[in-house]
Amino acid sequence: MLKRISALVLAGLTAMTVTSCGGSGGGGGSITMGFSQVGAESGWRTANTKSVQDSAKNAGITLKFSDAQQKQENQIKAIRSYIQQKVDIIAFSPVVESGWDTVLKEAKDAKIPVILTDRAVDSKDTSLYKTFLGSDFVEEGKKAGQWLVNEYKDSKDPVNIVELQGTTGSAPANDRKSGFQDVIKADPKFKIIASQTGDFTRAKGKEVMEAFLKSNPDIDVLYAHNDDMGLGAIEAIEGAGKVPGKDIKIVTVDAVKDGMQALSDGKINFIVECSPLLGPQLMDLAKKVVKGEQVPARVVTQETTFTQEQAKQVLSSRQY
Ligand code: AHR
Repeated sequence: MLKRISALVLAGLTAMTVTSCGGSGGGGGSITMGFSQVGAESGWRTANTKSVQDSAKNAGITLKFSDAQQKQENQIKAIRSYIQQKVDIIAFSPVVESGWDTVLKEAKDAKIPVILTDRAVDSKDTSLYKTFLGSDFVEEGKKAGQWLVNEYKDSKDPVNIVELQGTTGSAPANDRKSGFQDVIKADPKFKIIASQTGDFTRAKGKEVMEAFLKSNPDIDVLYAHNDDMGLGAIEAIEGAGKVPGKDIKIVTVDAVKDGMQALSDGKINFIVECSPLLGPQLMDLAKKVVKGEQVPARVVTQETTFTQEQAKQVLSSRQY
């Protein structure tokens, strides 16, 4: 029986892809951080994982890292395993906003502080975590909407928009949708004629865009909640014999290198930046929290936007 249980536990941990990297110097002392990552769904996520792993190493923090493959149950398992291992601090990027109270309470009862990074939770009890480091996703949605309003300021005709949403229930999908809608609703010519999740992946972005193109002959604009879905959609648009960036204007979020390349090639029209380079700030916050120092409840990432001209200028120096 015991053997069977051990085998099941082992299988569960393997499914989450748990790895441990030792810290090396940097004055972090003996801090061990358990980090539960969402997955590897996008170029943004890959850059974020690298930033967290490199920064832990530079800060001398021992990192226990697990990849949840976009599943909340895997993140909950990973957090419970970090509690059992008595790590000094837990950090995680919650795949969806809801359903975290129980496991966060378990960490609090075990006196292990938690930092949210990249994505938020909707827990009413904010004492369940020490701080939240990440972007303002509502603001990102608003910036996308403002670009659109400006782009069509001289037109009286209806503007038919299709939207590729991020992972259903995730903070960036909820907030990028609401921020965008808040801005465009001021003018009734803007109409979202179709909106569906593409799960933040290139493959799903392509698949959903193909379906949009089949059922909607008059699409003017695509709003994709990340570059990867936008890049998948570009393949679908080209496959349908249309010219991305011209026949269908495209606005996306992230500004990863592939997205910036498409922007400077004229296939995307505007990108709202979302920075994945959260590692250094995360490690600084973790050291302070472990020492018992006060940290701000919310740390917002500094971000910008890019036009096609601006993308051409910065493309060669883009790190990710
Ligand atoms: O939570 C950040 C979002 O997650 C990024 O915009 C997207 O690319 C990623 O998958």
